[in-house]
Amino acid sequence: MSSLRFAIFLLLAATVRAADTDCPSLNDADNLSQTQLIERLTHGCRYDRLERPVSYTESNGARLPIDVYVRAYIYFMQNLEAHDLQFKIHVLLQLRYLDPRLTFRKVAPKRRQPILGEKQLRDTLWMPHIFLANERDSSLLGTNEKDILTSISPDGTVIISSRIKATLYCWMNLQKFPFDEQQCSTILESWMYNTSELVLHWEQKRPITLDPALHLTEYMLHGAWSNETVVNADLNDLRHGAFAGNYSSLSFTVHLTRQVGFYVMDYFLPSMLIVAISWVSFWLQADQAPPRIMLGTSTMLTFITLASAQGKTLPKVSYIKVSEVWFLGCTLFIFGSLIEFAFVNTIWRRKRNVDVKKMNSKHILKSTLSPRSKRRATGRSRSFCVPPASTQKENDPFNNYLTVHNIPIHTIHEHEAVDNLSKSTSFSSTTLNTGDSMPYKKADLTSVEMGEEHHNIGWTTLTPQEISMWIDRKARCIFPLAFLVFNAFFWTFVYVV
Ligand SMILES: *[C@@H]1O[C@H](CO)[C@@H](O)[C@H](O)[C@H]1NC(C)=O
Ligand SMILES: *[C@@H]1O[C@H](CO)[C@@H](O)[C@H](O)[C@H]1NC(C)=O
Ligand SMILES: *[C@@H]1O[C@H](CO)[C@@H](O)[C@H](O)[C@H]1NC(C)=O
Ligand SMILES: *[C@@H]1O[C@H](CO)[C@@H](O)[C@H](O)[C@H]1NC(C)=O
Repeated sequence: MSSLRFAIFLLLAATVRAADTDCPSLNDADNLSQTQLIERLTHGCRYDRLERPVSYTESNGARLPIDVYVRAYIYFMQNLEAHDLQFKIHVLLQLRYLDPRLTFRKVAPKRRQPILGEKQLRDTLWMPHIFLANERDSSLLGTNEKDILTSISPDGTVIISSRIKATLYCWMNLQKFPFDEQQCSTILESWMYNTSELVLHWEQKRPITLDPALHLTEYMLHGAWSNETVVNADLNDLRHGAFAGNYSSLSFTVHLTRQVGFYVMDYFLPSMLIVAISWVSFWLQADQAPPRIMLGTSTMLTFITLASAQGKTLPKVSYIKVSEVWFLGCTLFIFGSLIEFAFVNTIWRRKRNVDVKKMNSKHILKSTLSPRSKRRATGRSRSFCVPPASTQKENDPFNNYLTVHNIPIHTIHEHEAVDNLSKSTSFSSTTLNTGDSMPYKKADLTSVEMGEEHHNIGWTTLTPQEISMWIDRKARCIFPLAFLVFNAFFWTFVYVV
């Protein structure tokens, strides 16, 4: 009984041992199916998935690194989102390498076609592990069956194509936004094997192809180029964790320029118009505070709304962008026209005439800004900011001047101008509305003697109203001219520098 048991045990052991060493023969492989052939080729007795394909130098038999050739075909590239500093691509990535263990030319000479398969076939093979060094996330495309194509040629060349979708970081420099150009790279790097084991190459012929139908809404594609480098990971930067060494890396870079049409039509032109509208204020009279303030503040608010809508799409970088220079410039112009109004309005409400030596900007401004000039040493001192007291009207040179010399009032045709003055006793409102001719003719006033003071030849007396209108007239030219100069500098910087 026990001998029988022993015999059965021996038999079992023998069969187990036989199965263990049973390496399926590769002879007469011609009549095998694809599945049978690949099962035999990758059988555990002759193929180890964890072991990379090895070839040796002929001279001294040293292990050579395996060369992996990469090709990329870009189907799709989504708008770079400046806000997130990232972009999306859909790309077909093809890896090609030679695995001598999978050569079946000799064992199955009649099979000329490559063995084709999908993910299942790939999972039985060794794969060079390559990762996207600058990815935010990535995944294989395809719904149920992920889109992987594996092919093994008779000579052992393995080609693995996979369609991947990736979101990649692109550290953009937005200094010249929206006239910027960006270079965004896709970086592939070997994960496990350093350069003594695996070297990545771009395919010699057309390593990168962009789909001809590829269209970016906000950018124009200027070109793409590829680069092969070696990444050095040492124990200081720990780029590959504890594994120091040199790792093969590939990259391709796309050069993009932003299409400015949208920004010109939606930002630059409207803001130019808004700035121009703020100049309408200079054609309104200096004491028309409600319309002039309305115009100034509403253009300011409109412009800030326009600009903030623009700024929301951008990351909050600390450096100054070109669009911000434009924003600051336009804000200053609108602000300037408001300040001009405040200045002109203050002068309009003054009561004291100003004597100027010559009718030029320098003298007028100088005399206006320092009303207590040498010639006025005896007059009351009146602060620039303090409005004149109404009780002092009889001493006001302007009123004195009008009353003493009986200047015809029809030279003042603006009603508001007169409203201030009509409080003084010498005017009747009926005479005020008569004239519509030139206001404040300087010639009328120039040679007339003024009260107790005598004029030197060449001195001109200007009423505050005249001065404010003079300033307004100057502003009508100076503001547009300054804006033109600003534009000249701005657009030169944008397109030339
Ligand atoms: C393969 O199959 C063909 C017929 O399909 C046959 O003639 C041939 O002898 C077979 N070869 C081997 C090696 O079995
Ligand atoms: C390739 O990369 C290296 C290192 O990053 C760089 O010096 C070289 O300019 C790049 N070549 C091209 C064509 O971009
Ligand atoms: C690759 O790694 C091996 C062991 O991990 C190391 O001996 C070798 O120096 C490395 N080679 C390079 C080029 O980093
Ligand atoms: C990596 O490459 C650098 C030069 O490119 C070399 O100095 C260094 O020795 C290499 N490291 C290894 C481990 O081979």
